[in-house]
Amino acid sequence: MKTTHWVILIAVLLVWQACQPKGRNSESSNMVKQDSTHAWWKEAVVYEVYPRSFKDSNGDGIGDLKGVEQKLDYLKALGVNVIWLCPIYSSPNVDNGYDISDYYHIMKDFGTMADFDSLLAGVHKRDMKLIMDLVVNHTSDQHRWFKESRKSKNNPYRDFYFWRNPGPNGGPPNNWVSYFGGSAWQFDKTTEQYYLHLFAVEQPDLNWDNPAVRDSVFKMMHYWLDKGIDGFRMDVVSLYSKKKGLPDFPKNFDGNFAHFYANGPHEQEYLKGMYHKVLSHYDVMTVGEASGVHLDEAHLYVAPERHELDMIFQFELMGIDHKPGPDYSLPKKWTLPEFKKVFIRWDSALTARGEGWNSVFLGNHDNPRVVSRFGNDKEYRVPSAKLFATLLMTMRGTPYIYEGDELGMTNAPFKTIHDFRDVATINRYNEIKAKGGDLEAFLANQREFGRDNSRTPMQWNDQGNAGFSTGKPWIMVNPNYKTINAAAEEADSESVLNYYKRIIHFRHEHPTMVYGDFKVIDRSNPDVFAYIRGEGNDRYLVLLNMSNNPVDFALPESVSRKSWNLMIDNYEDGQSQSGSSIKMKPWESMVYGEK
Ligand code: NOJ
Ligand code: CA
Repeated sequence: MKTTHWVILIAVLLVWQACQPKGRNSESSNMVKQDSTHAWWKEAVVYEVYPRSFKDSNGDGIGDLKGVEQKLDYLKALGVNVIWLCPIYSSPNVDNGYDISDYYHIMKDFGTMADFDSLLAGVHKRDMKLIMDLVVNHTSDQHRWFKESRKSKNNPYRDFYFWRNPGPNGGPPNNWVSYFGGSAWQFDKTTEQYYLHLFAVEQPDLNWDNPAVRDSVFKMMHYWLDKGIDGFRMDVVSLYSKKKGLPDFPKNFDGNFAHFYANGPHEQEYLKGMYHKVLSHYDVMTVGEASGVHLDEAHLYVAPERHELDMIFQFELMGIDHKPGPDYSLPKKWTLPEFKKVFIRWDSALTARGEGWNSVFLGNHDNPRVVSRFGNDKEYRVPSAKLFATLLMTMRGTPYIYEGDELGMTNAPFKTIHDFRDVATINRYNEIKAKGGDLEAFLANQREFGRDNSRTPMQWNDQGNAGFSTGKPWIMVNPNYKTINAAAEEADSESVLNYYKRIIHFRHEHPTMVYGDFKVIDRSNPDVFAYIRGEGNDRYLVLLNMSNNPVDFALPESVSRKSWNLMIDNYEDGQSQSGSSIKMKPWESMVYGEK
């Protein structure tokens, strides 16, 4: 063939290749364009504060804003950049502040607006940022809008919520169920109609199809942004737009109702409106809680050119160990290759493709403690808690630490229903009780999966109530505070806390941990999660032995020919690589740099 023919052939092949569809579900992480746009929120380490349980400054047993302010130096020393503050607005506290009765005021338990302003100034003074929880899928039934709405069918606020006539047999208008158990509809005698609540009865859903609702929400967002906050974590953002006509669940419905409720027909339109009317005017970060959003829908929320959100929280990992049961979720066995797959899939679908930026979290106030759930909170509590810190800080995507995980805090030893405070647990308990169901089985389940596990007070020291409060805490303190607490850990160079500081610092010092390629090696290995970050001459090898056994990890040929230098190890006496395998202790995590 002549040279010109070759040139034409190659050109045709290149054009053909560029035109091939890039399947969204493909799992190769380094195929299409890399996200090269840098942003402060991509480089940040975020720390979630659940204020009720963080620090009580006035001895009423409830954490508060002054308490958070007192601990800002602790957070600064940890190395975090952004604080996500769970809701602190006025609320009757049916769902610990996720039921808001006034978006413009501070919950009495938490203090005053002056306390908030002082906290925000304290955060900024320390060169950190603060994001607030935005809870606007629903309000409290004590919100003025709802109080008006329920008064009469022609009240100006009637359409702020979903009101419907009873179904044909006088029951609820459709078969939707609440996240917290029971029907998602509540009958209201005043007007003889039902209102919709996807969460507790006291959390009526706002009707986002009503432009007046959207405008009211946007106005309120401006109020907080104008105060100088740095962004929002958006509660159940994926549920704003409801399916047209609120249809029944289909027959033979698989039970995953979150997905049925999510991604309504106007969802993206509403989020774009929010972006253009509000968010685009500020340099802030947004992360949406994307309940029921699948991998192939995620880009709709976060692809940069769409101008909606910066990040979402996806729940595939949080769902890996349980499945829907008749009354509540039941445990499900999971394997490490499945666990890895979640990270590979989401990194690939979003970041590697440039269609968004991942957020990485292993627990929050709605989930059990990571070390009890995915680690070993008994003999390997310390190394497994440190291993999860390594995972968080070496993953591509913005890491979110949940308060107390940096101490290796564990699930709590709840005994009876009286130990629990969570409306979700209590409602379901009452439901099962009314049906004459197996309450012991339910309690056993909640001891493992209940949300209260992560809501016990922060363990600051070994004094009364773990130094959280001088009064009686609103929920039990985990008795292991005598040994697991911040003061003891600050004094111990090998503690979980000091390891967190080291690995956070390491992330900050190595931008490759933020932006570099992510490539899993030996995917099917049942014990070790191993991956390479970066490319070319700037590569890191991360090894996580997620098992109770020592492992001799054989380096695949592609990496064994290199010589690796151990940079961080969660045991003090880790070994540099020699030969083509690496000996790892139970729950050992190692980060190597290329020599
Ligand atoms: C998600 C929040 O994280 C959770 O705590 C709350 O109960 C529900 N949304 C309802 O607001
Ligand atoms: Ca208090």
